[in-house]
Amino acid sequence: MQNKNILLGVSGGIAAYKACSLTSKLTQAGANVRVMMTENASEFVSPLTFQALSRNPVYIDTFDEKNPQKIAHIDVADWADIAIIAPATANSIGKLANGIADDMLSTTLLATEADVYIAPAMNVHMYAHPAVIKNMKQLEQWNYYFIEPGSGFLACGYVGKGRLEEPESIIDTVVNHQNSKKIQGPMNGKKVLVSAGPTREQIDPVRFFTNRSSGKMGFAIAEAAAELGAEVTLVTGPVNLETKNTSIKRVDVITSEEMYQAMHDHFDDKDVVIKAAAVADYRPKHTFIEKLKKQSGNWNVEMERTQDILQSLGEIKNKQFLVGFAAETTQPLEYGLKKLQKKNLDAIVINNVSSEGAGFEGDTNIATYVNESLNPEEIPLTTKKEMALKLLELILRDLRDDKL
Ligand code: CTP
Repeated sequence: MQNKNILLGVSGGIAAYKACSLTSKLTQAGANVRVMMTENASEFVSPLTFQALSRNPVYIDTFDEKNPQKIAHIDVADWADIAIIAPATANSIGKLANGIADDMLSTTLLATEADVYIAPAMNVHMYAHPAVIKNMKQLEQWNYYFIEPGSGFLACGYVGKGRLEEPESIIDTVVNHQNSKKIQGPMNGKKVLVSAGPTREQIDPVRFFTNRSSGKMGFAIAEAAAELGAEVTLVTGPVNLETKNTSIKRVDVITSEEMYQAMHDHFDDKDVVIKAAAVADYRPKHTFIEKLKKQSGNWNVEMERTQDILQSLGEIKNKQFLVGFAAETTQPLEYGLKKLQKKNLDAIVINNVSSEGAGFEGDTNIATYVNESLNPEEIPLTTKKEMALKLLELILRDLRDDKL
């Protein structure tokens, strides 16, 4: 952050108070910070607070031109290396996604060529509204970078997703993302979405169905893609793994339904999507609120089908190179090829999970990679890390062939 010119856009939500701490932390980190507020934001926090914390004048009104030599909004737009909108309200996101420039912040955001980071904060239902989701997806496609809000108690009284990410975390995300852009590698400029781990399907508060997936293969792919210069989003089920490369955007989910939602939320702007997760095919038809007491005799749990996430992505894919995994214990090639075709994939990685050294939990794997040409390519026993690199090499080759 040292000597970086940061434009901090503050729009009108109660989380504007957290932008004060963000301003202070950015300044302490050596950044030059200029704060631009919407009129509504100034109802929550006084501009003087930001002026004192940033030691720079605060901008609100497009027509408040203090220096006749300059046009303030263009000057700030050109000056900024990085723009952060925190908090970003549904309104400010909506305006940016639709090219509306009716105040100083929205006008400056259209004029800037800086990297723009958007940290939303709003009511849980607003955050889930289709209009807001559509606007966020549009902005993601235009390479705006979102810093997802956390879940918890919201000022409006609801508990859920919509709480502005903490200032330290916003700064970490921006720094990591800026650093990842500096990595020169064959996956530079590629946006990769990976899913990993198992899902958990709850029976009651203490019991659930799951499977043996450890998430190691998916995590290895995410880490390797980031090392090769890709911008990586990792959607993971419950696992005991850390994301070592901090540039990876990690989304934690528990159930197959949550994974479905997260994969669809992050799908549109991706170039490569790799579905290494072991998703439950069935879930209990009823989830009991209270712990079930044991009874005499047997217990039958009625199960219903979950959605096939990969297949649903295969149905809507446009530019994405879609890669699935197949975990098989018998006739791997035959079953794997069926999945490739049925789910409309560009490639499939087939694991015979009953072979020694392959499949769940371990640190090694053996796989067969098959693309549209249906020509199987064997990847012999190797570490999951090496396997990840090999798979990405094959995917990059096929991506290039696609464009020829
Ligand atoms: N998959 C998915 N959603 C599901 C089930 C599977 O997205 N509900 C994906 C997995 O992430 C994997 C691929 O589909 O990439 C194949 O998963 P696998 O468990 O091998 O096969 P299934 O399609 O579930 O078929 P079956 O259980 O009949 O072998």
